[in-house]
Amino acid sequence: MPTNYWDYLQLEQLLSLQGGLPEEETDVSEDELCFIVVHQAYELWFKVVLRELRLARDGLAADPVQEEAVPLVVHHLGRVNEIFRLATDQFRVVETLSPQDFLAFRDKLVPASGFQSFQMREMEVLLGLPDEDRIEYEEATPLEHIRRRAEGSPGGDNAWRHITAAQQETTLHTVLSRWLYRTPIRNSAPGDAGDDEVVRSFLADYLGAAKTHRERMITRMSEVGGADPTAVRRRFDTQAEATRAFLEAEDVPEGGRAERRRVRAALVFIESYREQPLLAWPRALIDAVVQMEELLVIWRSRHARMVERIIGRRVGTGGSSGVDYLDRTASYRIFTDLWAVRTLLLSKDDLPPLEEAANYGFATGN
Ligand code: HEM
Repeated sequence: MPTNYWDYLQLEQLLSLQGGLPEEETDVSEDELCFIVVHQAYELWFKVVLRELRLARDGLAADPVQEEAVPLVVHHLGRVNEIFRLATDQFRVVETLSPQDFLAFRDKLVPASGFQSFQMREMEVLLGLPDEDRIEYEEATPLEHIRRRAEGSPGGDNAWRHITAAQQETTLHTVLSRWLYRTPIRNSAPGDAGDDEVVRSFLADYLGAAKTHRERMITRMSEVGGADPTAVRRRFDTQAEATRAFLEAEDVPEGGRAERRRVRAALVFIESYREQPLLAWPRALIDAVVQMEELLVIWRSRHARMVERIIGRRVGTGGSSGVDYLDRTASYRIFTDLWAVRTLLLSKDDLPPLEEAANYGFATGN
């Protein structure tokens, strides 16, 4: 028998799932139907995102990561990013509900809330959002809150299982850090004799180049006038000290400092010499991760604006402070080093020259 579209997509089954609460069967208003479909569409996209994130994570988990594997990781992240972009736009559909349209069925949702989207939590866990960074909610972290709600609820076990299973997995943040840590810097890799000195000398040269750049900026700003030269110098000096402390990983406990220094040095190295053929894909990968986090932050604040437009600043159905809580979640950052490095990058002309650049070119095979 030939395969039919409706069988392949299990359409009959899929289209029978928008009836709202079981006792209402199919008696939902057009507004509630829109509300349900938009949420279900999001959850379907989240399912695809989770698959792609796991593939990206697995691709990066290999040691070593083969050069040809990097474009594939970028491809997986690229799909995630397209979905996040679309997901942000999708709020426009639910925004066609007026405050009153939503109020007509809102009460019966209590205490259900997107807050209990276990796939959203799975994504956050898989990316590597530390639980201690989460905004507290009813004196518990959002995960603890879901655990409490899951107890005694018919679907609760499954919801909680999704989260605990994700907590056992290696995060994208971890594999990315390990991969960065192994990046050859000036042709030296961890484990090579004198690797730590090579990394330190690269950082010293980089800080020297940053100083030259800084002095030129200060001179230029004094020449064009307008700014108080002492205040300008003080500001630049403060930033220079922050740059040094960041690259030295002084914010990291002693035991992990050398490793983190190497990760940060690798980030600076890849971003700085990204035109070298062997660094172009690693740089594209880093950019895809930054873009993903940017889109996630935009998603969070877009959701908050949509919520503000529809329910104002009232308490959420899940019991949080509503918009205020949601706006605070937009401060979550997982890939902090990737963002931080942007503050200290230099233009090509200011960079220390790349010695033995040929080693970062493609192998010629002859
Ligand atoms: C009328 C439309 C919507 C309203 C008024 C609304 C409102 C809220 C509110 C107030 C919260 C905070 C938790 C609470 O106290 O309930 C929340 C959380 C959340 N909502 Fe919505 N929402 C809407 C649509 C959506 C849609 C379409 C999605 C798509 C999946 C969604 C996903 C989420 C998620 C994932 C959270 C948890 C955020 C976090 O804790 O980081 N919401 N929502």
